[in-house]
Amino acid sequence: MKDVLFSRFLKPALFALKPERAHEFSVRGLQSGLVPACPKIDNPGLKIRLAGLEFPNPLGIAAGYDKNAEVPNQLLKLGFGFTEIGTVTPRPQRGNPHPRIFRLTKEQAIINRLGFNNDGHQKALQRLKLRPVDGILGINIGANKDTPDFIEDYVLGIEAFAEIADYFTVNISSPNTPGLRDLQAGALLEKLLTQVLSARDKAGSVPVFLKIAPDLNDRELDEIADVVNRSALDGVIVSNTTLARSEVIQNPVSMEAGGLSGRPLFRKSTIILARMRQRLSSNLPIIGVGGVDSVETAIDKIEAGASLVQLYTGMIYQGPGLPGRIVKGLGDYLKQQKLNSISQIIGTKTDQWASEKE
Ligand SMILES: Cc1cc2nc3c(=O)[nH]c(=O)nc-3n(C[C@H](O)[C@H](O)[C@H](O)COP(=O)(O)O)c2cc1C
Repeated sequence: MKDVLFSRFLKPALFALKPERAHEFSVRGLQSGLVPACPKIDNPGLKIRLAGLEFPNPLGIAAGYDKNAEVPNQLLKLGFGFTEIGTVTPRPQRGNPHPRIFRLTKEQAIINRLGFNNDGHQKALQRLKLRPVDGILGINIGANKDTPDFIEDYVLGIEAFAEIADYFTVNISSPNTPGLRDLQAGALLEKLLTQVLSARDKAGSVPVFLKIAPDLNDRELDEIADVVNRSALDGVIVSNTTLARSEVIQNPVSMEAGGLSGRPLFRKSTIILARMRQRLSSNLPIIGVGGVDSVETAIDKIEAGASLVQLYTGMIYQGPGLPGRIVKGLGDYLKQQKLNSISQIIGTKTDQWASEKE
């Protein structure tokens, strides 16, 4: 989509709606086929091989936009190299009371406390079987708020989607399900990964990634990396939204409870990504998420240590043309720098980013 069309007409119309209505509207817009596809970019230099998968380019849509697997193919047509649905929980769930998404427009950020509102495994599965995804499909799995056993819910997710998933994301970092982030602590994480990876092995060989929070100190990062390095996990996604507000404290909306995403999350999530990169075995890739909204921020994530990158909030502020623009820009960057492959810049600035102050 032409960016002026978005910024002049569509964005003001969407921003006049409540955030959750605007999201609903944008999903229906994609479904309608009225949002123009991005011209196909087939650049061998942008291909990334990872966990046995070949990604046509390193940019994906982050979880939470297409929670219920309604528009995976339409998202791929915007230029994304892979798509991730969810978080899905075994049973359908309404989530927290409204309002539960807030815009911080000046800061190009969002606070959300949705609480895993979703249609449940079966609905998502039906949709994906009815309309198979023409590209790489990640399934982001979570736990119902009222489940007697969080870990069992992740196992159910693996069992339900093993046949159709290209990869799984085990999301233990949403701040909006009480107790969920406790799964990031050593002993519980070990138990979770043992059970999830044994379910994966029984069901096939689908790669499993772990999605972590940015609100982790060095000791907590050590603990996670120690467990992950001893496991058969295939990669780590850094990061989910933050509970921190230091970057947006001047905005009264920052008082709202929930996870902060978008531009003010960029620095913190990139520093944590680099610190995780320093701790993880070199064969374990990282997917970088948090505040990516330009070619430059995508390159920063890769230089900090990410093999792949995802975004969500950037698209709320810049529209459906953003993924295509970033992917094209990454190709132009390779040309300018006379690089053959984007993989040549992975982790070239890890130590620099890791030593930055949060
Ligand atoms: C409205 C909203 C809903 C989200 N829902 C999920 C979710 O269901 N599961 C998940 O793993 N992450 C979810 N996220 C987090 C994003 O996937 C991503 O990790 C985070 O927003 C940082 O990226 P961004 O700054 O590009 O948005 C959500 C984010 C937003 C803004």
